[in-house]
Amino acid sequence: MERTFIMIKPDGVQRGLIGEIISRFEKKGLQLLAGKFLQLDEEAAKKHYEEHEGKSFYDPLLEFVTSGPVFAMVWAGDNVIALTRAIIGKTDAVTAAPGTIRSDYAVHTNFNLVHGSDSVENAEREIPIYFSEHQIVSYEHTI
Ligand code: CMP
Repeated sequence: MERTFIMIKPDGVQRGLIGEIISRFEKKGLQLLAGKFLQLDEEAAKKHYEEHEGKSFYDPLLEFVTSGPVFAMVWAGDNVIALTRAIIGKTDAVTAAPGTIRSDYAVHTNFNLVHGSDSVENAEREIPIYFSEHQIVSYEHTI
């Protein structure tokens, strides 16, 4: 079963959107396997966003994701990566399609509420930064 890493960023937490964001994935029929409320330290943030090191938005991104608590999750399902990214919407809130989380609630690329892995490789690289395998449950999911 395909898995993805989803993280509600500090702006999503501050704005009280944890429930709304989880609800969209639940209603779609995706399966929640793990969830954790935590404050990211710089080391974990650097590991997570290593592919963006050197880009203009890298330092502000690290500062932002470590600025307050985040809600980290693992979701599963057929095509879960493509499905969650469709629900989240494009990185830039201006071009995110209407009805997506970022179109409905975000106004700025730097404060775009939620992260979703963009490939199987990145999902499987990101998940262990936040969860050990024994924290990820396995149960039958009938939809
Ligand atoms: P996220 O899905 O967490 O992945 C990288 C993050 O960097 C992205 O969401 C944005 O919050 C932030 N970011 C800021 N500017 C850009 C950009 N031009 N391209 C990609 N990501 C950006």
